[in-house]
Amino acid sequence: MLLGSLASRSPVVSFGIAFILLGEVCRAINPPEPFTRAPYLQFSSPHLMHVVWRTAGPIRPNVRFGKDLRQLDQQVRAMDIVVRAALGTHDQKLLARWAPLVTKANLALPKLHSAPLGTFQYEVRLKDLEPSTTYYYAVYDGDRRLTPEHASFQCVTHPPVGAVQPVRFWALGDGGTGREPQSAVHQAMLQTLEREQHPLDFWIHVGDMAYGIGRDMEFQSRFFESYDVTLRHKVCWPTMGNHEGHTSSGRTGIGPYYDAYVVPTRGESGGLASGTEAYYSFDYANIHFICLDSHDLDRRPGEPMARWLKADLEKARADWLIAFWHHPPYTKGSHDSDKERDLIEMRQHIMPIIEQGGVDIVLTGHSHTYERSMLMDGAYATNTVAENVILDDGDGNPSGDGAYRKSAGIHPHEGTVQVVTGNAGANLGRVGTLPVMREVVLEHGSVLIDVHGDTLVARMINREGVERDLFSVVKRGQVAPVRLALPWQPPTWVKPTNTVSIPAMPALDHRVLIPEGAAWRYVFDPIPRGMAWTYADYDDDGWHSGESGFGYGAGVYKTGLESMRGKHGILYVRKAFDIEQADRITEMGLWIDYDDGFIAYLNGREVARAGVGRSSGRNAQKVSARGEKEPGPRYVVLKDAHKHAKDGANVLAIEVQNASLESSDLRLNPVLILED
Ligand SMILES: [Fe+2]
Repeated sequence: MLLGSLASRSPVVSFGIAFILLGEVCRAINPPEPFTRAPYLQFSSPHLMHVVWRTAGPIRPNVRFGKDLRQLDQQVRAMDIVVRAALGTHDQKLLARWAPLVTKANLALPKLHSAPLGTFQYEVRLKDLEPSTTYYYAVYDGDRRLTPEHASFQCVTHPPVGAVQPVRFWALGDGGTGREPQSAVHQAMLQTLEREQHPLDFWIHVGDMAYGIGRDMEFQSRFFESYDVTLRHKVCWPTMGNHEGHTSSGRTGIGPYYDAYVVPTRGESGGLASGTEAYYSFDYANIHFICLDSHDLDRRPGEPMARWLKADLEKARADWLIAFWHHPPYTKGSHDSDKERDLIEMRQHIMPIIEQGGVDIVLTGHSHTYERSMLMDGAYATNTVAENVILDDGDGNPSGDGAYRKSAGIHPHEGTVQVVTGNAGANLGRVGTLPVMREVVLEHGSVLIDVHGDTLVARMINREGVERDLFSVVKRGQVAPVRLALPWQPPTWVKPTNTVSIPAMPALDHRVLIPEGAAWRYVFDPIPRGMAWTYADYDDDGWHSGESGFGYGAGVYKTGLESMRGKHGILYVRKAFDIEQADRITEMGLWIDYDDGFIAYLNGREVARAGVGRSSGRNAQKVSARGEKEPGPRYVVLKDAHKHAKDGANVLAIEVQNASLESSDLRLNPVLILED
C-alpha cells in the first residue's frame, strides 16, 4: 500500500543491541497491485459462487472460469456483477487523482460506506454451476488478466443437498488482531490440513474479525490480508461480533462488515429467506447451518430474528443442524454468561428455540478461550447449573468415554454441544468454571469439524498444531435421552495469583515510518511556550537537528544530551513525515524507549502518554521515575491516529520528561510504526 515517503518495510526494529523481531522476513506485498482487497470467495451453493475484490479506482471487471486451469472457457455477464464505490460524502476531500471519478454514473453506484476514498468493490456471481465441481477462476480488467494462473484461485461448489459424504469445515472466533497469535492459529490449521491431506470445504468465523472497532481498514489488514491464502479458495461464512458492531449495524445492514460480506438473504443457499444479511442459513451436503446476529438485534421470541429461526428450523430436513453466532449462551471465559445481558438473552430466548428445533452443535466466540460442554439440553436458568440438564456427562471422545449418542434425524431436546471458540488471536481470559463444561483450554487455537454420514468429530487444534480436545456425536437409531440428576463436574478453576500482563505488540504486518536514527528537530533550552510546537505548521528552524536516540546517562546515544544534566528536565522533539492517503491507516504506534515519561502529539493532538500523570510541558505533574520493573522499549498505540493524520505532511512531536532535575539519566528513542 501507498503510505509515506519515509516508509521502509523492515522486519526488524532495533534499539542498539536490544532488538525485537516484529514480522516475518520479506512477506509478499498483500494485496498485490492493482487490488486493494485481493479476490475472495463469498456465498455458494451447489450452483452458485461469488468472487469479490477491490481496486483503487475502477476497472472493467470480468471473471473467466472453467474446470481446467489452463482453459477458462466461461465468463460472467455484466448483469451478474455488482459494483460499489467509495467516493466520499460532501464534506470529505478527495485526492486530486480521484477527482475524475466523480461522475454521474459512478455516483449512482451503490456505496461502500467507509472504505478508503477511490475504492471500487466488485461482487461477481458465478451461476448455473455444477455441484461438487472445482472451477478455476481469474479476475480480469477488460482483457488484462489481474490474477496469476495458479491453482489456488479456485472454488468448489456444494454437493447436492442431502448428499452423504465427508464434510470438513474450520470454525474460529475473535482472531482479528493482526498480531502473531492470529497468524499462528491460521498456520497451525493450514499445517494440519496439509499433514492430513484433507482440505477444508469452507469455514465459519464466529465474529470479532476486525479489532478494535471493525473499521474498514481494520477489516482489510486484520482479516482480509491475514487470511488471504484461505479466503481466495474457501468460502468464509461470517457472523458479526461486538467489535464489528461499533461501526456496522445489523438493523440497517450498513457498515464495513456488511460491505465486506456477501451472504444469502433470499434462501439462495438453502434454508428460509431471511431478508437480511444479519442472519441467514445455508445447506451443505447433509448439514443445515444457521447464522444469527447475537449483537444488536432483538433476541426475544416474538421478534423477527427468533421467528425466522423457528420457521427455518421447522423447514430444515438435514441430518445435522449446526448454529453459530458470536455471544455464547454458556461461558466463564473472558465473559460471564451468568452476568452479561446479551449472553443471558441468547440463553433464555434463543436456546429454547434452538433445542426445540433439534440443533446438534452451537458454535460461538466472544469469550477468549476454548470451552466445550457435555451433551446438554434445557439449561436456560441463570445461574447455569448442571443438575438435570446434562444428557451425557462423558468426554464425548470415542477413545475415552465414547461419542455422544443421539437418534438419527432431527428430534427436539436430544442434546446440544456448546463450543466456545474465541481463541483465534485475541488475548486469552478466564473468570471461572461453568458446571456444564467438559473441556476448557486456555490456549490460542481453533476448531476443525468433520462430518461424515451419521458421525461428527470436532477437534480443537492449538496454535502449535496440537489437538487439545476431541469430541464426537453419533446420530444413529433411536436414543432415549436421560437427564442426569448429579452429573460429573469440572474441577473448580482457581484464579492464578501471579498473572502476567501481556505487553502490547505491533501488528505482524507493519512498516516503519520513522526509523531509529532518523533526523529529528529537538530543543530543551529555552523550552517552547504553549502547544504551538506540536502543530504541523510550527516553525522549528531555531531548533537543533539530531538523530535518534537522544539522552544522557546510562546507554549510548546518537545525540548525546549531557548538557541537560542537572539543568533541564524536558526534551522536545519534532519530526515531519508524509502520508499519501490517511484513510488507509489501520493503526499507528510508537515502538519507544523512554525515561522517565513522555507525551506524543500527532499534528497537535495528544495521541500517547506514559509516566506523566497530568498536564504537560513545564506544568506536567506526577512524572513517575521509570523503574527497573519494565525497562526497555515498549509498544504504544497512538490513540485515534487515523483521525488526526492527514494526507500529505504530518508532524509527530514528543516531549520527554524527567521525574526530577537531579535524575541521573534521560532517554528517548522513538520509532513510528504503521500497520497497513
Ligand atoms: Fe466479542
